[in-house]
Amino acid sequence: MRCNQVVWQSFPVNKKTRSQLLGQRPCVLWFTGLSGSGKSTIAGAVESMLAERLLHTYLMDGDNVRHGLCGDLGFSDADRAENIRRVGEIASLMIDAGLIVLTAFISPFCSNRNMVRARFEEGDFIEIHIDTPLSICESRDSKGLYKKARAGEISNFTGIDSPYEAPETPEIHIQNYNISVQMAAEQVIDYLSQNGYF
Ligand code: PPS
Repeated sequence: MRCNQVVWQSFPVNKKTRSQLLGQRPCVLWFTGLSGSGKSTIAGAVESMLAERLLHTYLMDGDNVRHGLCGDLGFSDADRAENIRRVGEIASLMIDAGLIVLTAFISPFCSNRNMVRARFEEGDFIEIHIDTPLSICESRDSKGLYKKARAGEISNFTGIDSPYEAPETPEIHIQNYNISVQMAAEQVIDYLSQNGYF
């Protein structure tokens, strides 16, 4: 429940001060895509490339966040919406801290992703669609979850009995098949470089 008696407090040290101290432009790199599409792997490679440039980052990953912050949530539409809302709020705090934030969540619903986007200033939210066909994700099945979903042992599995709404106009669209992780990650680095993020 929202409390109407709460007033926003401003402090002398703010996002601008913090990002100047870190010497970087904060932003959120929001990776979205099916389970097994390569979101976490590519986000991890991008974070390594940013670290090589001495940039300050933090990577939030769906599997990890669901062990703690979102450990009380399942995979109903409402729980996924709450998962994404919480992650968006944490990302917003990290942006305020001056960091470059990478998030790797299926985030299957356009409305949820757009709600997060609306929390950020223009240019601070960069949506990255890791576009890998379901058939390829399913053939990889590194966690064995597609097999379980097909067998009816898991319900509400994205792409099987729960929808994935692909972004229509993501800032970055990566078709993640027949390319290396390095090539995929370089597409993100090229975007940041060409658009003045560093
Ligand atoms: S969401 O939709 O954004 O809230 O999902 P997310 O927090 O990214 O969690 C996705 C990971 O949870 C595992 N998992 C499932 N995914 C989809 N549907 C169902 N029902 C499900 N159950 C468990 C799975 O390992 C996902 O990780 P990735 O890295 O995407 O494969």
